[in-house]
Amino acid sequence: MSKKVVLLPGDGIGVEVVKEAEKIISYISKRYDLDIQTESHLAGGASLDAHDIPIKDEVIAACMQADAVLLGAVGGPKWDNNPSEKRPEKALLRLRKDLGLYNNLRPVTVFPSLKDASPLRPEVVDGVNLLVVRELTGGLYFGQPKGITEVDGEEVGVDTMRYSVSEIERITRAAFEAALCRRKKVTSVDKANILASSQLWRKTVIRIAEDYPDIDLEHMLVDNCAMQLIRNPSQFDVILTENMFGDILSDEAAMLTGSIGMLPSASLGEGTGMYEPVHGSAPDIAGQNIANPLATLASVALMFRYSLDHEKAASDIEASINNVLNAGFNCKDMSRHAREVLSTSQMGDKILATLKDA
Ligand code: IPM
Ligand code: MG
Repeated sequence: MSKKVVLLPGDGIGVEVVKEAEKIISYISKRYDLDIQTESHLAGGASLDAHDIPIKDEVIAACMQADAVLLGAVGGPKWDNNPSEKRPEKALLRLRKDLGLYNNLRPVTVFPSLKDASPLRPEVVDGVNLLVVRELTGGLYFGQPKGITEVDGEEVGVDTMRYSVSEIERITRAAFEAALCRRKKVTSVDKANILASSQLWRKTVIRIAEDYPDIDLEHMLVDNCAMQLIRNPSQFDVILTENMFGDILSDEAAMLTGSIGMLPSASLGEGTGMYEPVHGSAPDIAGQNIANPLATLASVALMFRYSLDHEKAASDIEASINNVLNAGFNCKDMSRHAREVLSTSQMGDKILATLKDA
């Protein structure tokens, strides 16, 4: 059973961290005889430079035909002033839309060895283990009408927060299914006191919950959720929310760990799944072999779990990351919390060596 994985290293440190991921994928492929074929394509700024387009149709097609996509990061100051159609981020949005990736999973776990890295007191973040389930193909990001037009002699910018029942239903089911494998609690986050889309969201979530009697469901307004994440983050298990709220809350939740550079994500839908670190392209440290590849390696673990059907490989990679951290190794971004600081490639090799011993 041969499998195909498309690599989209993208820009900045994306290129360096995906290189480490390749080492791990190729080792796991041999070890478990999985015959995984990888192929690399340009996306984001790299594709703009080469082809004047954020991502080519044939790259989208290759992703659609693959079993999984691993993306590094896109963007950088070089393209920041481009018009919206020529921005690197467009590549991401197209991938999400064309691959139907409506279900974005962002797990946030505080590694016991890194409790002190959090900007919050260690006792507040102790035991935090939550999952943000972010709707990824609707809401303000994609709703129509959208754009800047001229009205009565001045420019007006419009975005539309739009959700249909079926869009809410499928992401709600995804969150409830995820919660069944966890602590069985779902916090649905909305702004139902003001927004019509949120009122429909809440009504639909309540209806779907009838199919999941074992799940403990609560509703929380988004502003309160932003506060609760700082006040008492360990109250959360699964946070279910729409696209824009999820974008904001997932960055906030990631920072609980003090190490946004170490968090993975998975985007799932009808077809091929896409995996990427939560961090960006970090142009300031690109090309120096100091970026932390652990978020990408943890994303590879998710890829084995959700798209390549190999739970053993996934848990092996996660255990190796934990062991390496517990042994006091980390990269420069976490140097205050490391006994020994490793470069990007040394960290990849360290995880590989730990995997081989497992
Ligand atoms: C994310 C990012 C993207 C988003 C940007 C780069 C388009 O912030 O994945 O959270 O807003 O979804
Ligand atoms: Mg974001």
